[in-house]
Amino acid sequence: TTAAVLLAGGTGTRLYPASRSHRPKQFLALGDDDRSLLRRTADRAGFADELFVVTRESYADRVRDLVPEATVLVEPAGRDTGPALAYAASEVRQRHSDAVMLCLPSDHVVGDGFRSTAETAVDVAARTDALVTLGVEPDRPATGYGYIQPGADHGDHYAVEQFREKPDEQTAQELLDAGCYWNAGMFAWTPDAFLDAARDGPLDAVVDALEAGSGVEDAFDAIEPVSVDYAVLERAEDVRVVPADFAWDDVGAWDALLRLADEKNATLGDALAIDASGNVLASDDKHVSVVGADDLVVAAFDDRVLVVPTDDAQRVREVVAELREDD
Ligand code: GDD
Ligand code: MG
Repeated sequence: TTAAVLLAGGTGTRLYPASRSHRPKQFLALGDDDRSLLRRTADRAGFADELFVVTRESYADRVRDLVPEATVLVEPAGRDTGPALAYAASEVRQRHSDAVMLCLPSDHVVGDGFRSTAETAVDVAARTDALVTLGVEPDRPATGYGYIQPGADHGDHYAVEQFREKPDEQTAQELLDAGCYWNAGMFAWTPDAFLDAARDGPLDAVVDALEAGSGVEDAFDAIEPVSVDYAVLERAEDVRVVPADFAWDDVGAWDALLRLADEKNATLGDALAIDASGNVLASDDKHVSVVGADDLVVAAFDDRVLVVPTDDAQRVREVVAELREDD
């Protein structure tokens, strides 16, 4: 049984003000497709035998509307992807003793060819009992991704020498030169393999509570937020990587829209650009005009306007921190 598990509990802060905590990135329709990123992910995972979405309470109704065919798992509290995936693993295992989980972020733009790579990853996970990652060919020393250093060649996949989450820029360059992949944030594993590996780290108490079938709320309350990358993948003994054979962008920040656009400026909504290029012009029902300016993000949503050089697009999280948008 292949159980697709979509992660849909993040807040997507760097796409503020389009993405806000009450309307995060996975519910937006980015790029040239009317469907939300979450809906597109569910469609892409349609080949799986069963579909789960794990999310926080406040998003659960919207998820049920958008993905009526999914079983919605509401996590006891938002504690990042580590606890969310431990919770999902235990729920999936209760329903299917022989399942392989195909874990997918719900907020990426993914091209054709996804299915065959994903099926290979599921197959490797079933065969080896390892934690299987999907590796994307990198093209810059990005600091917002995990890096995967491949080792022994096993035909349809590689053993992983090292998994390194979000390195600084110098380390990222070294990992790039060493032939690393980017972690696509997509994984395949059996619930048992995952929970065993998770027990060996900060998710220890959460896994114990899940296995005991009690005190899960307390265990979630007590744990600090931690992503699956730090909590499990950096520490696990048997990690494998299947090279991804599809176009991929995690649309992490506004400048990503330029990579997806085929025009001089990337536009989302109505915009007019005169003597201007390299801009990202994004709005809801407002008309945005830019004259004689290059390489800017201008984003106007609700009663908010953001202007930032495209090179500094990552710094939007400073605005959100200052505004305490997450509170
Ligand atoms: N259910 C749930 N609960 N989902 C969550 C939570 C949570 O508390 N936090 C985040 N998510 C969801 C997000 O909505 C997204 O779909 C996915 O989990 C990944 O979380 P991000 O917060 O976007 O992670 P990241 O982009 O910083 O890093 C991850 O993805 C990169 C690729 O985009 C890591 O796996 C990196 O190693 C990887 O390179
Ligand atoms: Mg992300």
